[in-house]
Amino acid sequence: SQQTLILLKPDAVQRRLVGELLTRFERKGLRLAGLKLVQAPRELAEKHYAVHKGKPFYESLLSFLTSGPTVAMVLEGREAVAVCRNLMGLTDGAKSIPGTIRGDYAISVQNNLVHGSDSPENATTEIGLWFTPAELVKFDIVDAKWVG
Ligand code: GTP
Ligand code: MG
Repeated sequence: SQQTLILLKPDAVQRRLVGELLTRFERKGLRLAGLKLVQAPRELAEKHYAVHKGKPFYESLLSFLTSGPTVAMVLEGREAVAVCRNLMGLTDGAKSIPGTIRGDYAISVQNNLVHGSDSPENATTEIGLWFTPAELVKFDIVDAKWVG
């Protein structure tokens, strides 16, 4: 199986959507491997979104990600990166189809509630930014025979 980094961004925490959004990932059959609430320092936000440095929305994006606590999690499962991107929908909430997280809960392009790694390679890098190895837990899940 594969791991991915998911963030429930500060808008999700402020809008009290953490439980609902976590449920969507859980019920798909993904397993939690790490979970915590983080007030991201600017340095972490810069590293996380380094690929967007220089874009017109970069400073606004950093302010957004550091504006309050973020729920960071590592989810594990079959094709976890692609599965999570599909659950999230498109970047722009307004263009994202109903049934996806952003399609159901977001209308903004920036305040779009969730982040998900876009490749297995980036997932490994991003997990290393947000979690120490000791914070990740390996365990067998009871229904793996059916859901795995
Ligand atoms: P992430 O999972 O958060 O990386 O989103 P994404 O992969 O769907 O989009 P992308 O990596 O292109 O952009 C990263 C984040 O920057 C988005 O999730 C938005 O929060 C924000 N963003 C992207 N495009 C724009 C834009 O045109 N304007 C503004 N203000 N923010 C943007
Ligand atoms: Mg991205």
